[in-house]
Amino acid sequence: MADLSRQDALTIARIVRVNHAGEFGAIRIYSAQILVARRFWPDCVPSLSEMLGHERIHCAAFRAAMPARQSRPCRVMQFWSWGGWLLGFVTALLGPQGIWACTAAVEAAVHRHLDDQLFFLADRDRYLHGIILAIREEELAHLHHAEEQLKSPGQVLNFLRSLISIATDVLIWLSTWGDSSRMTRALKAAKHP
Ligand SMILES: [Fe+2]
Ligand SMILES: [Fe+2]
Repeated sequence: MADLSRQDALTIARIVRVNHAGEFGAIRIYSAQILVARRFWPDCVPSLSEMLGHERIHCAAFRAAMPARQSRPCRVMQFWSWGGWLLGFVTALLGPQGIWACTAAVEAAVHRHLDDQLFFLADRDRYLHGIILAIREEELAHLHHAEEQLKSPGQVLNFLRSLISIATDVLIWLSTWGDSSRMTRALKAAKHP
């Protein structure tokens, strides 16, 4: 790791915490969806299970990156955990289109900040930069898979997607006690000093 200012070290600790919370939430969403899909939409199960496997690896990678960066999992993870589970459960009850609308919205939300994170980390934390670069590839594949499954998204589906997108941001914000917006501000400031 490069010689970091206190502020930069704090931002990196936040990046790891926010990403870890996001991955943990994704695990809960996919787990609930698989539970429902096993019973009603078995065709969705193989792709959902594959994605769940990826999210587990992502989550573990961020967890492992925490101690060296003076970062810890957020304290309100339980809340995030049940919010994510409920989101997955309800969208899966709506049917395969609900599942893929949820996946598309969540993957897009998780993916949204990754570019800014990569920009910030490039000359500050090469190791974490490498981890996020590899993870971004898989998140993009998840997003593309979900979008392929969404046939002719009508108004209802688009509305659902926006709703889930907002819910995801709120859940991440709550689960990190606002660290997600502090992280975003620091990343923006680094990009446009
Ligand atoms: Fe992930
Ligand atoms: Fe993903």
